[in-house]
Amino acid sequence: MTDTLPDTTELSLADQARLGSGADFWTTKRVGDVPAVLMTDGPHGIRKQEESSDQLSLSGRSVPSTCFPPAVALSQTWDAASAFRVGEALGRECQALDIQVLLGPGVNIKRDPRGGRNFEYFSEDPFVAGVLGEGWVRGLQSMGVGASLKHFAVNNQEWDRMRVSADVDARALREIYLRPFERIVTNAQPWTVMCSYNRISGILASQNEWLLTDVLRGDWGFDGIVMSDWGAVADRVAAVTAGLDLQMPGDDGTSDARVVAALESGDIEESAVRRNAGRLERFARRARAERRPGTVWSADDHHAIAREVAGRAIVLLRDDQGLLPLQPSGAIAVIGEFAVKPRYQGGGSSHVTPTRVDIPLDEIRALAADASVTFAAGFSADADADRAALRAAAVAEAAASDVSVVFLGLFENQEAEGADRPGIDLPEDQLALLEAVLAAQPRTVVVLSHGGVVRLAPIAAGPAAIVDGALLGQAAGGALADVLFGVVNPSGRLTETVPERIQDVPAFTSFPGERMHVRYGEGIFVGYRWYDTREIDVTFPFGHGLSYTSFDYESVSVVADGDDYVAQVTVRNTGERRGREVVQVYASLDGSVVARAPRWLVGFGDVELESGERADVSVPIPRDELAFWSEELHRRVVEPGTYAFHAAASSRDIRRTVEVEVDAEPIRYRLTAESSLGEIMRDPIAGAAFADLFAAMFAQFSAGSEEDVDYTPILDSSPFGRFLGSLGGAVPPGMVDDVLSRANTANGFEG
Ligand code: GLC
Repeated sequence: MTDTLPDTTELSLADQARLGSGADFWTTKRVGDVPAVLMTDGPHGIRKQEESSDQLSLSGRSVPSTCFPPAVALSQTWDAASAFRVGEALGRECQALDIQVLLGPGVNIKRDPRGGRNFEYFSEDPFVAGVLGEGWVRGLQSMGVGASLKHFAVNNQEWDRMRVSADVDARALREIYLRPFERIVTNAQPWTVMCSYNRISGILASQNEWLLTDVLRGDWGFDGIVMSDWGAVADRVAAVTAGLDLQMPGDDGTSDARVVAALESGDIEESAVRRNAGRLERFARRARAERRPGTVWSADDHHAIAREVAGRAIVLLRDDQGLLPLQPSGAIAVIGEFAVKPRYQGGGSSHVTPTRVDIPLDEIRALAADASVTFAAGFSADADADRAALRAAAVAEAAASDVSVVFLGLFENQEAEGADRPGIDLPEDQLALLEAVLAAQPRTVVVLSHGGVVRLAPIAAGPAAIVDGALLGQAAGGALADVLFGVVNPSGRLTETVPERIQDVPAFTSFPGERMHVRYGEGIFVGYRWYDTREIDVTFPFGHGLSYTSFDYESVSVVADGDDYVAQVTVRNTGERRGREVVQVYASLDGSVVARAPRWLVGFGDVELESGERADVSVPIPRDELAFWSEELHRRVVEPGTYAFHAAASSRDIRRTVEVEVDAEPIRYRLTAESSLGEIMRDPIAGAAFADLFAAMFAQFSAGSEEDVDYTPILDSSPFGRFLGSLGGAVPPGMVDDVLSRANTANGFEG
């Protein structure tokens, strides 16, 4: 946020209070010479409603806007530049529609595959979510349109979302659920942050001062405005005090009056109202100043971007028999309703009216002009459809074909904002259809369209190939045809694990909670962190994705780069055609002082290589990505030690590993009587002061013993104070307080 704008306001306190709630569903108030600001939903298109206004896109169409790949697919590009391009294009469309803020991106972590809005979020991994979300924000704001980073925070389910308390420990909060928000706020400075509906450990996000002020502004330096999700404010006065600047939507001044009354009764500090009003004024003036009237955009150009990005998002899950890419000739049976009625976006507030929609069947025919391409629906969303007849017709087409392409997935009513899924299975009739088609035509490719992860174990070994299209936006049909016929060599990678079964998922016993509480008992072990720690088999791992060529990782090195690190990975294209490879780097630390996953993602990069070509890929590794969050020290801590860095093609396909000594200050905690003997002995000052005492004590313990006693288990599980009691008068009076005070002062603790 630029700081050249006026920070104070000449408005009356009552008018300042009025600034703090919307004028209507989509605009802020114009108060005095503070201009109004228009905002609307994203995040993968623009949902500008002309007639009615609602937040679930239930009433009326919005004006046509390019529907880009939703976050579930955009993340599978593992490409911040693609996210930037999408944000930039959306910014252009916003300017043309005179919209100053686009409500996105959604960067909540995919805690459980049943989450109804997972299609709108990036990943189970905070690093991927942060990097892709940052790219999107930078792109949008490069066009003078503000982002609204959402939903802050810990909104990982739809069930009971307006009341439920996400009960999360500090490490999981900081290392997983807040981490994408932190990266984007500190790196890309979004104009606004949208608080979520839910509670965090019992306190509503909309009035959570720790979250909205201490963390967001105190720890991360955010200086934009915080708006509420629509209807998320329960107590406007408490919200203003906590640091919520803007209640949306407006409520015709009702809550403004409550703020004024609270000012008069002294139930709210005048400074809080002035503070929020000053932020809102700066925000409104900036939004107006950044308007670019007359901006024009090309639907064709944006559709081309949507198709290109979608092509990079597609994941080739398997192709054992080399069936892909298809030859554009012969008899091709296209099966599945989604081939003519494509799934390309999710339901709810993000649902937009596209400028056009590529039909997969048409796009396949366009790229295979010399082929005989037939179609059979195979299944239908219509409950009254004759399933047997649909299936029989599809099987007949498959039997008569040289190859069949079967489109499977989830219908929009199976996954949308406002509702989580009961499970992750594909619909029974689709599984039955596939089984029948495979019996008639083993040369079968499955194309998947879904927002949330679907269970693939029942079909993983059947088809000759599986292409995962997630939800690809309006150009899905064209992008899928490009990949099927090799116009595009797939390079997408999964950003969410595909579990063997729902019972294996980390939150299986706690999702979605009960009686307004959901307990994040798995802590930091979300997604691959869980499956890898528990050594649970998965159908396809996080980071997985194949290519029509192959790549060898010839070497990896990791060197310091200032405070950070950089990995150099030499990659060679060992296949017959050009391709793009996404190189992932994971870190491991054996013997950590805290529980860690076997490996965690700390960086990624990509490279395009011709057949036979090799290149070095540089992957920056921020030092902070090695850290854990210390609940006692209330900060991120990097442990000294020997870290292993793994260059990998997925979280379970480690290609090269290198070990690196990482220097860091030893971790020092404040020493008290409750400190362990081990902590006392490892401290330079306290250890030296009590060395003789401990030596005598251990000698006494081991007197008469024939062998050396290993005191390690005792050292770190015996509280110093309790132990002193057993030593009687061996410790001079006052020595303990003096030594602990000197040690704490030397370690930076007061007193
Ligand atoms: C919805 C969503 C939020 C959206 C807002 C406005 O309930 O949670 O993502 O931006 O309301 O439609």
